[in-house]
Amino acid sequence: MMKQAYIDHFGVEPQYHIFSPYRVCPIGAHVDHQHGLVTGFAFDKGVDLWFSPSEDSTVELFSLSFEGVVQFDVQAPVQVKNHHWGDYARGAKYALKKRFDLKRGIRGVLKGSLPVGGLSSSAAVLVAYVMALAKANDISLTKMETIKIASEAEREYIGLTNGILDQSCIVLSEKHGLLFLDTATEEYRIIRRHPEMPPFELAIIFSGLTRSLVSSDYNLRVSECRAAAWNMLAYTHQPLKTLDKTFLRDVPKEIFDMTAKQMPQRFARRAEHFYSEYRRVRKAVTAWESGNLELFGKLSFESCESSIHNYECGSPELIAIYELMRTQEGVYGGRFSGAGFKGACIALIDPSKREAIRERITTEYLKQFPEYAKTFEIHFCKPDDGARFIAL
Ligand code: GLA
Repeated sequence: MMKQAYIDHFGVEPQYHIFSPYRVCPIGAHVDHQHGLVTGFAFDKGVDLWFSPSEDSTVELFSLSFEGVVQFDVQAPVQVKNHHWGDYARGAKYALKKRFDLKRGIRGVLKGSLPVGGLSSSAAVLVAYVMALAKANDISLTKMETIKIASEAEREYIGLTNGILDQSCIVLSEKHGLLFLDTATEEYRIIRRHPEMPPFELAIIFSGLTRSLVSSDYNLRVSECRAAAWNMLAYTHQPLKTLDKTFLRDVPKEIFDMTAKQMPQRFARRAEHFYSEYRRVRKAVTAWESGNLELFGKLSFESCESSIHNYECGSPELIAIYELMRTQEGVYGGRFSGAGFKGACIALIDPSKREAIRERITTEYLKQFPEYAKTFEIHFCKPDDGARFIAL
């Protein structure tokens, strides 16, 4: 279908197809921007980009998910954002141009397979654009370079002060394992599924509510974390760096224990989330390594609990879904997805209970929020490999 849409639009066949998956983070949420530990999977839904390198420096894109056509020149100076889906392609150009001379653009068509909201569709499209523009310009990138470039595009061009969780899951994941990444050192491991681990799938539960992350409290929370770290360092008479170079990871937990009561409690709660999530990720890795899906799931629930009470994100809709998941047979564990200010909850589930899960969560949620009858959705997905070229 996308290939045909490309042919109808450009009059020739596309040369390449990239699939860039969405991601989930069961444990290790809201800590990447503070250089914390994270876990994640990519899964078998995401963004497809069919494209060919242009003859010249123009980029021309259309989407089967969004209105309008995007056109710009990769050689022209970086344009300002115009709050349109085309900003992501311009962001990819911006971040690539910091390192490389771009001579050729791309002509392509794009489509996302699930609604936008909590699954990192923005990072998935950015990774796809970075890979496509690199291909068109004969630039070969390592996985870490792709992650860095896509992430700079989002931070510096789009304006979200996030970390590298999303891009890393999207680029590094492998379908038979869990990604475990230290966002401070950028060291990572894919931990293969234990042979005795029971089968599981990922449930993606969309609340029906959508909102843009840049306009959420995401950036405010990042500043609060930095303020917490700054307070701790100042109270203990340690050298300070500028706020943008201050991370909770650089402050030992003992210092938090000594200073937690002195600082504004709002900041202490953000730090409490960070330190407790660090412990949960460590435990979750051990649980995963030993095939203990029950414990892994329980830690994901605890992670969500900390997001609600310490990090204070979520919405009544997401909290309602989380409460339903907690009492649902067949759900090992789960939490808000992404920043948790919009979109979706995710869960690790027993595939044999799929239909019962769908039935009860849909009925009970819509009793509380009938206004989302048209936009509420549940999908069941499987872990997948990271972003890649698909053979035509
Ligand atoms: C968003 C951000 C990520 C990460 C998550 C929360 O998806 O883009 O960098 O902070 O929220 O874990």
